[in-house]
Amino acid sequence: MIQARVQSAFKEHFGGGSRLYSAAGRINLIGEHTDYNGGFVLPGAIDKVILAAIRPNGTDRVRLYSLDYDECVEFGLAEEDVSSQQWARYVFGVCRETCKRGGKVAGFDAAFAGDVPLGAGLSSSAALESVFAYAINELNGNGFDRFELARIGQATEHNYCGVMCGIMDQFASCFGRAGHLIRLNCKSLEYQYFPFHPAGYRLVLIDTCVKHELASSAYNRRRESCERAAAAIRHRHPEVTFLSDARPAWLEEVCPELSAEDAMRAEYVIGEFQRVLDVCAALEKGDYATVGERMYQTHWGLSRLYEVSCPELDFLVTLASRQGVTGARVMGGGFGGCTINLVAEERYEAFVQAARNCFIAAFGHAPNIYPVVISDGARRIE
Ligand code: GLA
Repeated sequence: MIQARVQSAFKEHFGGGSRLYSAAGRINLIGEHTDYNGGFVLPGAIDKVILAAIRPNGTDRVRLYSLDYDECVEFGLAEEDVSSQQWARYVFGVCRETCKRGGKVAGFDAAFAGDVPLGAGLSSSAALESVFAYAINELNGNGFDRFELARIGQATEHNYCGVMCGIMDQFASCFGRAGHLIRLNCKSLEYQYFPFHPAGYRLVLIDTCVKHELASSAYNRRRESCERAAAAIRHRHPEVTFLSDARPAWLEEVCPELSAEDAMRAEYVIGEFQRVLDVCAALEKGDYATVGERMYQTHWGLSRLYEVSCPELDFLVTLASRQGVTGARVMGGGFGGCTINLVAEERYEAFVQAARNCFIAAFGHAPNIYPVVISDGARRIE
């Protein structure tokens, strides 16, 4: 059990008296690459978490032990930068971003480990940021709300990891609630919990295990395309701040001014706004056929217009459709990682078997299969 391992590693490295915190990875049913465009997302936290045992150490230094990497890192809170391991940069960023917002960060010792698969599009980095943002907030009595904690994680990605991400992953990791998806309006930051117990269906992730080396720069370029498209539209329609404010016809007006690539990216994003709303309306009616249809549409938009898919992901989505899976699509930023699949109970076993066998036959390695349980977000456990 992770909990026991983390607590005993803490004892071994730092002694006793720690508190234990948890934060989760996330899924997203629909609403991909909409967060940084001011649109809607529909994520939930999952039962894959990072646990951290942590205790103030009375100094101005942070000492960390990662069980998964079996590495120790130490840094001073006044240091300008840490050039060490990537995983430590996340914790360092969270400390700095907490201070920037006027929060106190006293030196601490921490040991941590998790079971959120890395590079699978399940936001292991957001889980790491959130568990430390939450713990530091509580241990220092800073009183930041969960939105501020999510922003601390997001700013860590921007300023210390070079990924210009939106707010979705950190939001889901901080706000997750068992049995619920959360619809977040990324412009107004209004959110609503949606009970999610799709009777007769299961959600399963299939991880291609493909990791794209340049995923973060490709991600940032997608964002820049969207910003250029929004700026062109704003020129004619000043009320447009984000692409989410634009009507499809307004995009058509400016298409001649945009590169073909920017126009394709914007076309996908504008279509995706409506799909999230359609899915929320369908969920309220228990209309899973529509939910699934929109998921497939999202996938092919992400593949052909947004160009963040890869052959392995397209293969799995095509296979899902042939197997009668209700909905399937690439999930998260893309460029590898997982598909998310909404599968009727009676087709589940056959689909998972076929996905495994056909994937091995086509690509020579097995995919990882993760059934999804929607769970709680960041919290103190002990
Ligand atoms: C990554 C980012 C999120 C979001 C998704 C795509 O997970 O961290 O902010 O943009 O990609 O929806």
